[in-house]
Amino acid sequence: RDVYILAVNFKVYPSAFGRRALEVVKAAERVAREFEGTVSVIIAPPHTEIARISSSVERVIVYAQHVDPVEPGAHTGSVPVEAVKEAGARGSLVNHSERKLRLDEIERVVERLKVVGLEQLVCADTPRAAAAIAVFEPTYVAVEPPELIGTGIAVSRAKPEVVTKAVESVTRVSPNVPVLVGAGIVSREDARRSVELGARGVLVASAVMKAADPYAKMRELAEGLAPRR
Ligand code: G3P
Repeated sequence: RDVYILAVNFKVYPSAFGRRALEVVKAAERVAREFEGTVSVIIAPPHTEIARISSSVERVIVYAQHVDPVEPGAHTGSVPVEAVKEAGARGSLVNHSERKLRLDEIERVVERLKVVGLEQLVCADTPRAAAAIAVFEPTYVAVEPPELIGTGIAVSRAKPEVVTKAVESVTRVSPNVPVLVGAGIVSREDARRSVELGARGVLVASAVMKAADPYAKMRELAEGLAPRR
């Protein structure tokens, strides 16, 4: 049976740091426990929070939000893959539309993450870009139309053809790479529709990071993803 993915990008929302972040992490941990075997929960906190958060989770999977395409050495202010591995992350987002890389950089970063044993969740703006990225066989490809990010208007509702096309084109190139979708996903219904359109999960940010009750919001989204019992 497929396990669905609920990936929460903390971005740099006020709730992404310090004590408030740990509350979101605790909520994520609770959802991961309740949906064990059905929904895997990935969280992507800011780099500064990775070490502390990684040491406080059991079931939740911690990813970085970005890694730089550089090797350890003289690169002031950069974050090489070795840094996020050392901090305890299990993988990284790559090429988020707020942190884009060139295609050759994406290839290099995916390769380097694989070499050090970290997972790769690579974002794409369009189904075409998703297919180009799928060639690198990352752990996941996530398609997010940038114009819907943060709007509360779900890609699965407003642009269902983006989801179906991304699934189709990624599957044609790399049949084993699961496709996630994101942008504007805020409700159980948005998550359910994403799965119906062929996605293996969702990538969300504002719905959880701005929620008064992050636990209730993550549980709602997980319920939308999880197959009927
Ligand atoms: O990485 C996920 C993100 O870009 C989607 O943002 O706020 O529309 O869920 P949001």
